[in-house]
Amino acid sequence: MADMEALKQESRIFNPSAELASQAAISGMDAYRALCDEAERDYEGFWGRLARENLSWQQPFTQVLDESDAPFYKWFGDGKLNVSYNCLDRNLENGNADKTAVIFEADGGEVTRLTYRELHGRVCQFANGLKSLGIRKGDRVVIYMPMSIEGVVAMQACARIGATHSVVFGGFSAKSLQERIIDAGAVAVITADEQVRGGKQLPLKAIVDDAFALGGCEAVRNVVVYQRTKGKIGWTEGRDLWMHELVAQQQDSCEPEWVESEHPLFILYTSGSTGTPKGVQHSSAGYLLWAALTMKWTFDIKPQDVFWCTADIGWVTGHSYITYGPLAVGATEIIFEGVPTFPNAGRFWDMIARHKVSIFYTAPTAIRSLIKAADADPAVHPDRYDLSSLRLLGSVGEPINPEAWMWYYKNVGHEKCPIVDTFWQTETGGHMITPLPGATPMVPGSCTLPLPGIMAAIVDETGQDLPNGQGGILVVKRPWPSMIRTIWNDPARFRKSYFPEELGGKTYLAGDGAIRNKDNGYFTITGRIDDVLNVSGHRMGTMEIESALVAHPLVAEAAVVGKPDETTGESICAFVVLKRPRPVGDEAKQIAKELRDWVGKEIGPIAKPKELRFGDNLPKTRSGKIMRRLLRVLAKGEEITQDVSTLENPAILDQLKHAI
Ligand code: WTA
Repeated sequence: MADMEALKQESRIFNPSAELASQAAISGMDAYRALCDEAERDYEGFWGRLARENLSWQQPFTQVLDESDAPFYKWFGDGKLNVSYNCLDRNLENGNADKTAVIFEADGGEVTRLTYRELHGRVCQFANGLKSLGIRKGDRVVIYMPMSIEGVVAMQACARIGATHSVVFGGFSAKSLQERIIDAGAVAVITADEQVRGGKQLPLKAIVDDAFALGGCEAVRNVVVYQRTKGKIGWTEGRDLWMHELVAQQQDSCEPEWVESEHPLFILYTSGSTGTPKGVQHSSAGYLLWAALTMKWTFDIKPQDVFWCTADIGWVTGHSYITYGPLAVGATEIIFEGVPTFPNAGRFWDMIARHKVSIFYTAPTAIRSLIKAADADPAVHPDRYDLSSLRLLGSVGEPINPEAWMWYYKNVGHEKCPIVDTFWQTETGGHMITPLPGATPMVPGSCTLPLPGIMAAIVDETGQDLPNGQGGILVVKRPWPSMIRTIWNDPARFRKSYFPEELGGKTYLAGDGAIRNKDNGYFTITGRIDDVLNVSGHRMGTMEIESALVAHPLVAEAAVVGKPDETTGESICAFVVLKRPRPVGDEAKQIAKELRDWVGKEIGPIAKPKELRFGDNLPKTRSGKIMRRLLRVLAKGEEITQDVSTLENPAILDQLKHAI
């Protein structure tokens, strides 16, 4: 995690180049303010104009915003459209048919290009295939796929027929997958035989089979398998189908299913502070509007750009800035199967040079690990590659510390590329607070100012506005088109998590703390205010990891906290009490390994605690509450200076001081 004090005092300012500014979609701060003013003056008029200008409607809307059932807001309610039509057909009609839509680079380096016409054909064929299986508008389809053209095709095909997809990141375990299949009520699962990452073949279909073996997935009629590696897999006759066989006889045109604006385009599960992951439900029209518009505003996308977002389609960044946004604006984009460190840590730079990438969007964790790699081995330093095609850089998913920002700015952008540090969330659908490349003077580590129409503010626990310079809770005061619509199957939890009564019931609670700079009002995100961890930009609930740990037969109690980490931002530190005496030495090491693997199986490798500490007990108050605050101090390796007189068992702190 970035050093907060250093961040608040950061005062270096970098102005966008005059050349970029003069041609940008939002050119200069006056243009930015004019849009903000337009939204202030006539909120519905502003969004209505943008929705008419940026989307193609089968049936135009007459109502912009319906607040009658707040916080269940409806946008463009009586309009109809199709998301896949907007991403594909529209490009065939406006002269982009033969433009490259996707440049796919496989882990091993093979490159495949598809034009908009070809991509349209592939999506239509697969959409027809899904229809032939009886999948209809409103059905849910779980997608558990590698980074691939086929993954994007699967998502777009669902959108085309009005099926609601729920993509599960390929790193999640069988159990996580099973829980999501059940909660979503999926009728089909789309997967691949295996995925290839960093030269290794990793199972996907076998994990789907394991998920079914856990039970409860009976609503799934079919599993469609994309053949990636031809590795050996299990097969259930009557249920399992090969993707290539399913599409072989299908026509390459498919009339889109016109859906209402509010029709759920997708559900994406994400972690909260309590309980099981939440199925964040997004709309069709409002979501797509913002995915497209932020491509124009934040990324200043131009026809000749080559856009590369390195996220996985299993996360919201991949949804908005791989599957939907770039195609909705007719861009050429890169889809990369592999990892940044294979065959070596110069892979990103090499790909930027070979594909002449002009806009590059990645996560601070990746940048920090590549800084380390470049320090250790000059051969993979960005200096060794021709990065002259770059004109804009982006950062997403976690706070970027000023040192990493400066390195990115100098060594990758050669001090000519603005960096858009985009703050947003699974729930927000697209960017919320970010610099505009042709307008906003940038300050390293600050996401600067809200996009026009986004009424972000900082308040205290009672919802009162706080003055600049005073840290508080980040909220959004008015609904916006791409916002979460509800939590799938749990509207009460939606209300409680995002529109709590304490804030009046109509203010969106982001779950992050923030502070605005005294002089310029710039926002800096100070981190989550709930029990959500951010490890390498992946969101995880401490409760989920604790539940996984206590499900192990040896574990009596567990408490999980985040620990600042130089590379991954935060890392997972677990304090564990066993049902048997506290282990030491080799036994402790062996049990720690067993528990880490267990968590990997329960949730996925990304949730494995980096560090485990065993105690006879956990620090508790007399009423039995675990003092996580103290555990955070211990995890950091710092001395406890707080008053511990309310603790029932202060002696336990000594035991938990050291990692094994
Ligand atoms: C954090 C990812 C600081 C934040 C798009 C948020 C950030 C959570 C930034 C959402 C940023 C995301 N600066 N923090 N630019 N971007 N975050 O849902 O804590 O996976 O609440 O969405 O990541 O993570 P999610």
